[in-house]
Amino acid sequence: MNPRAAAHRILGEVRRGTLSDRAASRVLPAVDPADRGLALDIAFGCLRLRARLDAWIGACADRPPSRMDRAVRDWLRIGVYQLTELRTPDHAAVGETVGAARSVLGRRRAGYVNAVLRALARRRDADSGGGADARAAGRAGAPAGGDPFPDPDEDPVGHLCSWGSHPEWLVRRWLARWELADVRRLVEQHNRPPDVVVRMLDGGDPAPPDGVELEPVPGWPRSYRLERGLPETALSHLRAVVQDPAASAVVDYTGDRLAEPVLDVCAAPGTKALGLAAGYGVAVVALDISHRRLVRLGAPARRLGLPVSAAVADARRLPVAEAGTVLADVPCTGTGVLRRRADARWRLEQRGLDDLVALQREIVDACAAAVRPGGLLVYSTCSLEREENEGQVDAFLDRRPDYRRDLPGAGARSDCVTPRGDLFVRPWLTGTDGAYAARLRRIA
Ligand SMILES: C[S@@+](CC[C@H](N)C(=O)[O-])C[C@H]1O[C@@H](n2cnc3c(N)ncnc32)[C@H](O)[C@@H]1O
Repeated sequence: MNPRAAAHRILGEVRRGTLSDRAASRVLPAVDPADRGLALDIAFGCLRLRARLDAWIGACADRPPSRMDRAVRDWLRIGVYQLTELRTPDHAAVGETVGAARSVLGRRRAGYVNAVLRALARRRDADSGGGADARAAGRAGAPAGGDPFPDPDEDPVGHLCSWGSHPEWLVRRWLARWELADVRRLVEQHNRPPDVVVRMLDGGDPAPPDGVELEPVPGWPRSYRLERGLPETALSHLRAVVQDPAASAVVDYTGDRLAEPVLDVCAAPGTKALGLAAGYGVAVVALDISHRRLVRLGAPARRLGLPVSAAVADARRLPVAEAGTVLADVPCTGTGVLRRRADARWRLEQRGLDDLVALQREIVDACAAAVRPGGLLVYSTCSLEREENEGQVDAFLDRRPDYRRDLPGAGARSDCVTPRGDLFVRPWLTGTDGAYAARLRRIA
């Protein structure tokens, strides 16, 4: 399948409710391996930058994107993404896109796509002088003069929603907490595809196999960015897992001298469970409600020879009477990992956040009942939202006076520890995902 047609197919599946990763894994096998990277870049770029692309479309078309036929709009996003974000020459961005669109849309509607894309190509060339430098600047996130976005000084919210391509409710709640420059860096980061990072489970420098290149991630010992090669090839030769430094920070923060049994109650796919078993020499019981996700733990645990056993269970009704340590890496909005899930920002809504806070509360209460006196409960999320993080923990401590916040684990990076001792990894400071964790000791 042509890579642009594949990108269009992925966008269609996501529109009908399929998660972006799953849609991509369904469509990509039909694409020539050499074209898969382009298909994925276009599809995920269109999902991430939807609002930015729609601003361009709205500026060049005779009607707003919200009033367009959806299939036409997706083709326009595909063409605009290539014109404004990739360095695709006009003839390929417009010609190839319209050619691929014609077999799906027919001549008349493909003609409309052609007209809008040509108008944008002319406008872009007039605005920027058509130079490669100006295009490179656009790629780096600096809109050229004459762009269709609100002025960032006069209307920062509008700018972050449109050029920044984020939903307004998220932008407003972040601006209420953090500086504009930080929110802008967060938004920019969400708009770039993430690096693949491998975390060495043992000390020492990695010796990667032929065809694999690793670069140390500054500030994160044992984390290496995959510069060249496939993650599977790297992992088959290394005692390592694919894990963003923010997730590794949760493992390091969890701490040493963990009392057994150690339960990881929302464990799948299991990289934190593997990190705990390797890093602290403990056996880990990995539980998760999803069998489909949990089975991904089996092969790496066997390959690495780590004592991690897995079972399907609902963390709200734990099948274990007493544990020394419980890690509850709860389901959350994932606002710290939006760069990993191309479509996630558009699915989130306030009601979903409220429902997750209620679910997290049930899970943390059930876990608290299973920890024996003197034991440790570690609560963690990959969210940036207060209600899911310190708000959830503060409310828990009000309900459970037999728990108190404990000191961070010795391995925690000090600039990611809050004055109260929680872990909070802020993506705009670290260049990583976001993460939160709190160590809660049962004192009675
Ligand atoms: C943030 S992910 C966990 C990531 C994992 N700890 C790791 O590091 O690889 C949250 C997990 O919670 C699971 N989950 C959601 N609701 C649950 C429940 N009621 N009981 C147990 N697991 C649940 C999901 O299936 C998902 O795998």
